[in-house]
Amino acid sequence: MTVDRLLNCQAAIESGTIMKAIVQDRYGSPDDVLKLREIDKPAVGDDGVLVRVRAASVHPDVWHVVTGRPYVLRLMGAGVLKPKNPVPGTDVAGIVESVGKDVKRFRPGDEVFGETFLKLQWRNGGAFAEYASVPQDALAFKPGSITFEQAASVPTSGFIALINLENGVLIQPGQSVLINGAGGGVGTIAIQLAKAYGARVTGVDSAEKSKMIRSLGADHVIDYTQEDFTRRGERYDLIFDVASNLSLSDCKRALTPTGTYVIIGHDHFGAVGSRTFGGMPHFFKFVALSPFLRQLPSVSFSMPGKKEAMAVLKEFLEAGKLTPFIDRTYPLKEVPEAMRYLQGGRARGKIIITP
Ligand SMILES: NC(=O)c1ccc[n+]([C@@H]2O[C@H](COP(=O)([O-])OP(=O)(O)OC[C@H]3O[C@@H](n4cnc5c(N)ncnc54)[C@H](OP(=O)(O)O)[C@@H]3O)[C@@H](O)[C@H]2O)c1
Repeated sequence: MTVDRLLNCQAAIESGTIMKAIVQDRYGSPDDVLKLREIDKPAVGDDGVLVRVRAASVHPDVWHVVTGRPYVLRLMGAGVLKPKNPVPGTDVAGIVESVGKDVKRFRPGDEVFGETFLKLQWRNGGAFAEYASVPQDALAFKPGSITFEQAASVPTSGFIALINLENGVLIQPGQSVLINGAGGGVGTIAIQLAKAYGARVTGVDSAEKSKMIRSLGADHVIDYTQEDFTRRGERYDLIFDVASNLSLSDCKRALTPTGTYVIIGHDHFGAVGSRTFGGMPHFFKFVALSPFLRQLPSVSFSMPGKKEAMAVLKEFLEAGKLTPFIDRTYPLKEVPEAMRYLQGGRARGKIIITP
């Protein structure tokens, strides 16, 4: 390192323009490509908020972008040869450090949580760092009743659960709802939302998660390693399939005559489908059939706004109807270990990263 470079680094440290972050220069296994480095703090646009990150969370879509799999995601905005944004992570909770000139809702010192994107996107979001730049509409005030770690566990999984339950439109009080993959990030939130909408809930997952699934409000629990719920003779008004392993005939067998099937899409960390498309062909088969089969909800390409969704999730959290369930917390430098733990499938609740 030259004397000039050393002096520049020293000046950057003193003026507070650099931060610690997990970065990747290429796609690959988290153990191989993720490094803890000092980099420039992110720039914040007129509509952006610089958040001092107190907690971030790990979920399967982070794994997808870090590994660059399925390959098609690289063409969908993540970056063709290497990630456009080198810093992974999308969910943050923290304290507002500064705001852009058009930001009126937040000011320095506010406690906030949210996602670093306004849309559902397969891209790195910059959350695994000491500071993250977040569009103001992707943020909400953190309820005082929950910790930063709990708040960081909600945004992505909560948004997926909420938009796919269409804010409760799919569920009428008293209906029976089955959540397949109930013990994961999306399922643990979907259980609680379905209960809040007045449903009787059955959660399907592996046996070691059954205690947690019950504690979140599920009325019945089925261990998928022991029993195929589609062959029990029970029928459900809604099957919410996070595990996304059901065939059309499975769904028809387990749905009431007016029942609905919602597929979330999960390729089980590359175990399902091809390296190029992952679980997408299976997911899009259901999307393509939706205009012709009454069991499949019509597809809406206009996504509900993140600001409205975050406001709804905040209300559920404040009302105590949604309680985030944390499994483990890892320091920033141990993101590769956290991702290995996620991929192993043993986590009961969410995995959190703290800078
Ligand atoms: N549709 C959308 O709007 C949308 C948008 C963005 C992302 N997504 C997708 O949503 C997914 C996120 O889900 P998540 O965070 O909940 O994942 P997760 O935390 O990995 O949870 C999945 C759960 O399913 C369980 N499972 C595995 N195989 C099963 C089976 N055969 N039957 C029943 N349960 C089974 C897993 O348990 P074990 O591992 O213990 O077996 C795990 O508890 C990602 O794949 C993401 O790409 C969907």
